[in-house]
Amino acid sequence: MNLQPSDINGYYCPDDPMKRLSVNDQEAKLISSLVNQMFVLEIGTGLGVSTRALAEKAKTVVSVDPDPWCHENVWPVLAKDLHNVVFLKQIPNNGRFDAIFIDGDHSYEAVVSDIENSRRVAVPGCVYIFHDSRIPDVKKAIREQFKEWVDCSTAAGIGVAWHETV
Ligand SMILES: C[S@@+](CC[C@H](N)C(=O)[O-])C[C@H]1O[C@@H](n2cnc3c(N)ncnc32)[C@H](O)[C@@H]1O
Repeated sequence: MNLQPSDINGYYCPDDPMKRLSVNDQEAKLISSLVNQMFVLEIGTGLGVSTRALAEKAKTVVSVDPDPWCHENVWPVLAKDLHNVVFLKQIPNNGRFDAIFIDGDHSYEAVVSDIENSRRVAVPGCVYIFHDSRIPDVKKAIREQFKEWVDCSTAAGIGVAWHETV
């Protein structure tokens, strides 16, 4: 896949009709280091840059994206190299994920819905990792949904949140 460094953040693909942006190199290293040996759900395969980073350390990654462009252009390329990744068009109904990486639709409503849907498949003590936590809608959703979270000041922001366990 033809990935080019973007002036804004991360990478883009000139052939991508959506002109989506990936995580950058620093963000990739950070998310990779957070998921060592974990069972990870990724919401938003996109260009697959974050998928590669997660797959490097995780035990297994389930990566979700509803966009047919990703299914045709990104999933087959990733599947050739990564043998611990499963691709799905929607969040599974079952599963017990240790970590959930959310980088899908960045509207407030969509982020809240991603959090609610992923809670159903999260283990107690699951860590939630958000890309683009600098986007006001993303930040608002995280603030409202989690009592505990930290904001890592990367270019786009990586939010790390968790639910207190008793
Ligand atoms: C910014 S891109 C993700 C970039 C990716 N993290 C990377 O580093 O290459 C956002 C992706 O989220 C996908 N998306 C949008 N709504 C979604 C949803 N409800 N569930 C899963 N993915 C979604 C889009 O199709 C798009 O591919």
